[in-house]
Amino acid sequence: MPAVLVTRAMVDEAMNALQGHCDLDVYTGPPEAIGRDEFLKRAKDKDGLLTMVSDRVDAELLDAAGPQLKIVANHAVGYDNIDVAECTRRGILVANTPDVLTEATADLAWSLILACVRRVAEGDRFLRTGTPWIWGPKMMLGHDLYGRTLGIVGHGRIGQATARRATGFGMRVIHNSRSGGVSFDTLIAESDVVSIHAPLTPETRHLFNANVFRQMKPTAVLVNTARGPLVDEAALASALRAGEIFAAGLDVFEREPEVEKSLLDLDNVTLLPHLGSATAETRAAMGLFAVENLLNGVTGKRPRGLVNP
Ligand code: DGY
Repeated sequence: MPAVLVTRAMVDEAMNALQGHCDLDVYTGPPEAIGRDEFLKRAKDKDGLLTMVSDRVDAELLDAAGPQLKIVANHAVGYDNIDVAECTRRGILVANTPDVLTEATADLAWSLILACVRRVAEGDRFLRTGTPWIWGPKMMLGHDLYGRTLGIVGHGRIGQATARRATGFGMRVIHNSRSGGVSFDTLIAESDVVSIHAPLTPETRHLFNANVFRQMKPTAVLVNTARGPLVDEAALASALRAGEIFAAGLDVFEREPEVEKSLLDLDNVTLLPHLGSATAETRAAMGLFAVENLLNGVTGKRPRGLVNP
């Protein structure tokens, strides 16, 4: 039977689907996520790896695994944690789990949009302090969404699903992506809400930086459910503190799982621990998709989520 390493226990549906099909090595901690040394050690002699977004798959890891490795199946749609070019050069398949997490991630982008424009998390935090309060006409004012502009950066599956939801809120939608839409400069100047859905590449790293924040509306909100390094977090914290933009909602972080310290004391930031696809239904679908990719890869079949060019 093919030998496989699963770097983190998935939901039961996905774990059960592996039983009986492979010689299974599942990392179960502690610590919760597999450390680099353990990953290098446990990858050795495996035919397939089922990896998480937090696992770096590079030449060193591929060397440690050995030449028999056939597939790296990522439990995610994003695969910036994997050196795909190096895998391709060595004839190793790389696969991801597109489509199944599109709607859940778009829902989470909207959770952050609403939390930011209407100060939801801030209101909740305020009440928990026990500070005396009474309804007031100027208390915790946010901004309307109706009639305003949503700017989508990266118009792939999740960007489009996020855009679709804007119809119900009566918003105008503009987008910017490699394949079209308005220019990036127009998007950041005209948008009241900017939602990031672009992949992390050398070109998109720090796409949102001090210069960009200065060009955004002071009432604008920035939401990132894509990848942390698209945003320069230190510059974002300065822009939020200076009132250059109104608020930000982050589900992903530049040095994940670390959160930039200067963001933590700001009331106009809503932070979530990378929950974009975190629903029971979606995680079952992602896990089953990743297992299907893995088992196809180790048995010489073409995985449905193949990403190598
Ligand atoms: C993905 O799939 O890329 C997410 O970031 C993990 O849920």
